[in-house]
Amino acid sequence: MTPTGPRITRRRFLQAVGAAGGAAAVLGSMEALRLVAPAGEHRQPFDPPRKSDFALQGRANGTRVLILGAGIAGLTTAYELEKAGYACEILEARERPGGRNWTVRGGTTETEIDGPAQTASFTEGQYFNAGPARIPQHHTTLDYCRELGVPIEIFANQNADGWYYNEEANGAIGPLTGQRIRHRTAQADYLGYVSELLAKAISQGALETELSADDAVRMVEFLRGLGALGPEDRYVGGASRGYVVPPGAGLQAGAVDAPPALSDLLASQLGFYFPFEHEWDQAMLMFQPVGGMDRIPRALADAITGRILYGVEVAGIANTPAGVAITFAEGDDVREVTADYCVCTIPPMILSRIPNDFRTDVQTDLASLRPVSTGKIGLEYRRRFWEEDDRIFGGITNTNMDIGTIWYPSHGYLGERGVVVGYYNYVNDADAYAAMTPQAREARALEQGRKVHGPAYADEFVSSFSASWRRIRHSEAGWVAWDERTGAVGEAFIRLLEPQGRVYFAGDHLSHVTAWQHGAFETARSVVTQLHQRVLQG
Ligand code: PHE
Repeated sequence: MTPTGPRITRRRFLQAVGAAGGAAAVLGSMEALRLVAPAGEHRQPFDPPRKSDFALQGRANGTRVLILGAGIAGLTTAYELEKAGYACEILEARERPGGRNWTVRGGTTETEIDGPAQTASFTEGQYFNAGPARIPQHHTTLDYCRELGVPIEIFANQNADGWYYNEEANGAIGPLTGQRIRHRTAQADYLGYVSELLAKAISQGALETELSADDAVRMVEFLRGLGALGPEDRYVGGASRGYVVPPGAGLQAGAVDAPPALSDLLASQLGFYFPFEHEWDQAMLMFQPVGGMDRIPRALADAITGRILYGVEVAGIANTPAGVAITFAEGDDVREVTADYCVCTIPPMILSRIPNDFRTDVQTDLASLRPVSTGKIGLEYRRRFWEEDDRIFGGITNTNMDIGTIWYPSHGYLGERGVVVGYYNYVNDADAYAAMTPQAREARALEQGRKVHGPAYADEFVSSFSASWRRIRHSEAGWVAWDERTGAVGEAFIRLLEPQGRVYFAGDHLSHVTAWQHGAFETARSVVTQLHQRVLQG
């Protein structure tokens, strides 16, 4: 569109295309104009390697690949390479597949580094996901659930009836601290007051340079709805913040409370929780596998035909003239295996301690990555008091206490028992819980949660199991933190994307989606593609 040519509005352009090509053409053009998100936006292109790729070259694929780690990245690497006839073998330090993807059930045991042994004594059928627990719709994770036949259900990451609870701490003050407030209530109040202020500012002419007269009218109209504004565009509360007397039969009309003063609302800092709920990866709908997150690695492990050696720790990684040589410890024995290539998914903190022949700058890179601390506790209850007493069916309660959040199970509704995640926290709070014994963590979690839920939180409690990822052997972190993944600061990241000889690296730490299984799936696919291209060319 040139400045001198006829002005074609977007709308007229779309109408013109619609006349010629029908609805599909309109949608395609809207994507081209970026009026709607492109339909393919959620998918990274990936072409799984195929056996026929070799048939075209008149040879069979006998390439042997040794994979270090049976977490999501390692399992996916084997699963995808086997589609093209690669002979894969996986070495795994744990006695189970999944890595950080870990569902805790009755009988699950774990001894943290320098910690006592814990055994979960949850009732049959009760569990919680100690690692990943929520999957956004756009993540590749769901494509693997489809391909592997892992059934999924909705994970309630947001619930209008969940609680916000801020203590008078860390800057939060005033009459709204020290009491629990429903998400819907705080959200209605913030929206109401923000809408009121903005509507007033516009009506008083404060935004005349930003808004045309038409814009101003339309904006105020929008704000009146958004904020449920009353007469003179004042926010006076309403049903979206919840009832004190519920509406019911006959003459029971229901009653609402007046909202708190704006000043008290602002002082409470409850609105600080809102942005998270709209994040790219955190907005509803979200999903979880039916029966536990570990259904995913179990399905992958079942689909893989190559051997998975459990309970073996890698002790050395070396390139040889024609391949790789990996030494590993199995009990007191040290053994060596060789292969044509290696894909290493061992977390960088651990890998940097394993003797290897990587370039020295790469060794420095691996040792420089910053582990992030995170932890969870599962609390089994004999009664679902959050459902029965508070009418909360799934979702999350946010607090500014060291527990961070309380998660209500998104399955087993109306049942008898349930496992609540009593804390899920990061960094300093997670370090504080990591330093406690499991009993002390449990006591602290119950004490904090009791402030939100009252005596039931302790009275109905049965047993707990906690995980502090910094202290969990073979992981040593929830994930890693990158300052930067591009430019001069991101050099370490960029270097680790390259293989060291015949050793490739994969894992969520090598993606822009750290702390999600999606990152692990995507890096596995990327390495599979690179390795396959090299083999085809070789
Ligand atoms: N994926 C994890 C979670 O959803 C960790 C994470 C938290 C990642 C917050 C990004 C943002 O809890």
